[in-house]
Amino acid sequence: MSDDPLPPPSPNPASGRTTARTAAVIPAAGRGVRLGPGAPKALRALGGTPMLIHAVRAMAASRAVSLVVVVAPPDGAPEVKSLLDAHALPDRTDFLVVPGGESRQESVKLGLDALPPGYDIVLVHDAARPLVPVDTVDAVIEAVRDGAPAVVPALPLADTVKQVEPADVPGEPEPVVATPDRSLLRAVQTPQGFDRATLVRAHETVEDDVTDDASMVEQLGLTVVTVPGHEEAFKVTRPLDMVLAEAVLARRRLNDGF
Ligand code: CTP
Ligand code: MG
Repeated sequence: MSDDPLPPPSPNPASGRTTARTAAVIPAAGRGVRLGPGAPKALRALGGTPMLIHAVRAMAASRAVSLVVVVAPPDGAPEVKSLLDAHALPDRTDFLVVPGGESRQESVKLGLDALPPGYDIVLVHDAARPLVPVDTVDAVIEAVRDGAPAVVPALPLADTVKQVEPADVPGEPEPVVATPDRSLLRAVQTPQGFDRATLVRAHETVEDDVTDDASMVEQLGLTVVTVPGHEEAFKVTRPLDMVLAEAVLARRRLNDGF
């Protein structure tokens, strides 16, 4: 790991004071329905360690992150708190645990509500993306420090995408209505990084259901920018993703051995 990959804070809305600090909110309150029956997704083991612990460590790996707020399954806050107590984190990193809500959006809002003063940059990171490399985290923070109100890691798409008229019955043929130009599309990941005041305003203002936080900032009329994402920042969603995540961990262990 590099010593300090981040330049000193520059004067911008998120870091006007040189004391600008970064917190990460980790929504981990989902059930993981698409992964199949079992414990809540964030608590399932990867390489013997709960997915959530990998995600917390991925945020704490950035020297800029000094607080991690974990949004636990609604009745799982005590369990998550003891998990965090039992797993080593860097000394410079504090953590808080709060219970989550019905939707991801609600869970992120509950995490934001628990954020103490003094953190001007906020990352929102899915517990379901346990393997994001620290360089991606740092690139997001750096772009917020450089003045962007909202930053998302993004990758070009491998598949061509079709817009369809959804069928009433799943599995029935669906008419294709358009094929967007793939070169204009990106798949976005987390951590997404924000000027804190902007993200709080977005969560207070936008009432539509959304699947990421940056789209709420777009709805405020502000510009969201991308930085390069990473293939290891994929979201563990379906059973095959667990196989891939185990393989990535095994490869890392092998590489660390040399
Ligand atoms: N999440 C959350 N609160 C919710 C729903 C989701 O904090 N009420 C979190 C999940 O724990 C996950 C992230 O949001 O870290 C991304 O959501 P997703 O991958 O959809 O996870 P789940 O909702 O758990 O999975 P599924 O949709 O298959 O049930
Ligand atoms: Mg979900």
